Amino acid sequence: MCGIIGVTGDEASCELLLAGLELLEYRGYDSAGIAATDRSADPATSVVWRERAAEHAGSIDHLRGRAGSAPASIGAAVGHTRWATHGPPTEVNAHPHLDCTGRIAVVHNGIIENYRDLGAGLAVRGHLLVSATDTEVLAHLAEEQVAAGATLAEAVALCLGSLRGDFALAMIHAAEPEVVVVARRTSPLIVGVTATTGIVCSDVAAALATTRQLFALDDDQVAEVRPGSVVVRDRTGARVEPEPVAVSWSVQRALKGGYPDFMSKEMHEQPRAVGDTLLGRVQADGTTEIEELVLGDDELRRVRRVVFAACGTSYHAGLVGRQAVERWARVVADAEVSSELRYREPVLDEGTLVVAISQSGETVDSLHAMREARRRGARVVALTNVVDSVMAREADGVLYTRAGPEIGVASTKSHLAQLVMVEVFALHLARVGGRLDQGAVVSVAGDLLDLPVALEDALDRRATYEAVGRRFAACENFYFLGRRAGLPVALEGALKLKELAYVRAEAYPAGEMKHGPISLIEPGAVVVVVATRTPLWEKVMANVEEMRARGAAVVAVADAGDEETARLVDAVLEVPHVAEICSPVVNVVPLQVLAYTIARARGNDVDRPRNLAKVVTVE
Ligand code: AGP
Repeated sequence: MCGIIGVTGDEASCELLLAGLELLEYRGYDSAGIAATDRSADPATSVVWRERAAEHAGSIDHLRGRAGSAPASIGAAVGHTRWATHGPPTEVNAHPHLDCTGRIAVVHNGIIENYRDLGAGLAVRGHLLVSATDTEVLAHLAEEQVAAGATLAEAVALCLGSLRGDFALAMIHAAEPEVVVVARRTSPLIVGVTATTGIVCSDVAAALATTRQLFALDDDQVAEVRPGSVVVRDRTGARVEPEPVAVSWSVQRALKGGYPDFMSKEMHEQPRAVGDTLLGRVQADGTTEIEELVLGDDELRRVRRVVFAACGTSYHAGLVGRQAVERWARVVADAEVSSELRYREPVLDEGTLVVAISQSGETVDSLHAMREARRRGARVVALTNVVDSVMAREADGVLYTRAGPEIGVASTKSHLAQLVMVEVFALHLARVGGRLDQGAVVSVAGDLLDLPVALEDALDRRATYEAVGRRFAACENFYFLGRRAGLPVALEGALKLKELAYVRAEAYPAGEMKHGPISLIEPGAVVVVVATRTPLWEKVMANVEEMRARGAAVVAVADAGDEETARLVDAVLEVPHVAEICSPVVNVVPLQVLAYTIARARGNDVDRPRNLAKVVTVE
């Protein structure tokens, strides 16, 4: 969480920083701040210029209004957009933080776990820490090293050994006005250098206006970035030659493109996200090929168990993956929340393949679950949307979704791409393992390849979903039910409604209601049920009857034209019929729109729901 950016050289300006912060704002928007050195000031005595604002989503605009007071010739600058961990979202806790001299400024993403001990030591040595953050110690620790004669890069390198936790940090120092120093452990940090400029940031999107030639810093490396050059050193102090790669994402794909919000744009892009993710991986004749998976056919045939590890919406993709792997490949499969898996002392061995699913490829719990699995001997694959993300780089193999940049905090197109990718993987595993006959492989391949068109159809029905959303917008208690492939859809529908509309929404296997939760059902409750035609449809509808008998209004995700289902419920969200195991890809769409509509009706900011950040880089 939190987005950081730093720039040095001819392009260093408040506008560049603020434009970058806007693209990073999805990582947190509790406050924002910028700091800069002045190239024309005396490096021996000058202090850094700094402005901060804690105006929630308005912070960046606020800073723009104050940018006029910045030095006319900025040497180096850093910026930050915050998701508060330590200390409330106030201006005093907003980054950048300064040392006692006001000559060093730091921005940081992550958590310094031992900041209390470090802060206590600094206080004893006479430092005055003014914020409640874990970050501020970094500026003061660097101050001590600089006072002892170190350059800023040396100071940062010397400090790293004393830090516990996960972090990415960027620092500037008035004594070296054209230098930005960055370091990282686990949290991501991207670096790019042109002939006249250097840029560092948490996410490639913020660097693309400057350069497409970018590299990711590795754990415990320190980079000293100057206009036109960068020196990278590893934890031993040895010089490392970075290898920039050309990034193909365009800045336009990270902009709203005429839509009222990113979520609308990203929902609209779902057919393309799914189509692109399928491209070249599945052919109509049943051929499957996943180049970046790396694991060969023999290795896949040795897999005895697949464990999907993920958080939030990505976990719901894992639940679908579990069903697809078991159904098609007949391999034992589990799906587990990463934060539980990593601490559960799980039994994972060389026969286990852990597929860690993460849109961002940065989620700290999933990253650590992956590392834990590797320590226990399992092979690890990262299923992610971000090329060269931390998880992609650490995994044995990768399954890339091709949804393009997703900015809205609520996962939409990336989730659909995850769903289709876990299914492609399951089909590949089944085909390689000889567990499905050729006819079945061809049939599943056809079902997958039909999905982009089915999604277009679902999105064409958006107005009808919105009408249902408006009808129930004032309700306060929602229950989402499903069976088998419908359950992950129900879980995802409830999560979307909670995070966007701030409405209580619980999801259950439909068969579980009688084991307790049904006591909550009374008039006023809304039950959203996944009731498309599957072999379990009759059982689902029996559960629907039980809900209606107790006064709940029932909204059903139902096959288009299914009049029987429509007659038995209060409202329908019609979707085109697709094969059951592929149905989550389509059936989630009306529930996204439902949550979106209810959130908008309640006046909520759908791209920036309260208390959330797109990327969760702290535990
Ligand atoms: C869902 O809309 C959220 N964005 C959230 O649950 C998200 O899926 C979760 O934090 C995991 O993120 P990841 O896919 O980047 O790992």
